[in-house]
Amino acid sequence: MAIGIKNERELQAMRKAGCMVARVLDVLSGSVCAGMETAELDEIAEREVRAMGGRPSFKGYRGYPASLCVSINDEIVHGIPGRRVIKSGDVVSLDFGAIADGFQGDAATTVVVGQAGMLTMGLLDATWESLNAGIAAARAGGRLGDISSAIQCCAESRGFTVVREYTGHGIGHAMHEDPLVPNFGEPGTGPELKKGMTLAIEPMLTTGDWRTKVGRDKWVVSTLDGSLAAHFEHTVAVTDGEPEIMTKA
Ligand code: MF3
Ligand code: CO
Repeated sequence: MAIGIKNERELQAMRKAGCMVARVLDVLSGSVCAGMETAELDEIAEREVRAMGGRPSFKGYRGYPASLCVSINDEIVHGIPGRRVIKSGDVVSLDFGAIADGFQGDAATTVVVGQAGMLTMGLLDATWESLNAGIAAARAGGRLGDISSAIQCCAESRGFTVVREYTGHGIGHAMHEDPLVPNFGEPGTGPELKKGMTLAIEPMLTTGDWRTKVGRDKWVVSTLDGSLAAHFEHTVAVTDGEPEIMTKA
């Protein structure tokens, strides 16, 4: 399928959805604390997005049972919120999507609860920097591989590994549109980036190996070697100039 180019009306709806996502993630980052059940975060997310007039996009997507993904420590993505209690020192990734006026926003952040060790801080920092390197490469006239390569180079130069079995993606009317946006690749390869393309860029980094496994609930994805993982994501639009981050408050 061709990569969708959004018009101004569609971009406006995505800004609205993106703003809701950013606000929800801000509230969640400020709420998460030791002793909390992950289901409480899910309830907050759903309540907040509905209060803004939006809808949670994950709920019901391929049967996903919640509004939010909460992935802890060796869990990378797609953790289903439930009765698990968050502990001090946990590395908590929060991934949320919203729909407004028929268009989508998708973003993720990772926080540490309580005191973080050096390795954890380094991982979070590198994942955040990798996201920003990927976003900086999302420029009209460049290629998709420029984004992938920027993420991989940033992550590996800091001694971390990018997950290969899950990727970012085009986004718009649907949560997942063409193209896939891998977090590894070669510059100057892949489709040309054009003004109006909207991409969810989402590096997932580990302190160990890139291999993953899926849990018994058929959703949660963890590192095979038990190493720590972090995940940051923004929905971004390619423009004439600077990339536009749509998932900002
Ligand atoms: N942000 C995730 C993604 O880009 C959300 C998918 S979780 C699901 O794929 F539950 F909705 F599948
Ligand atoms: Co995504």
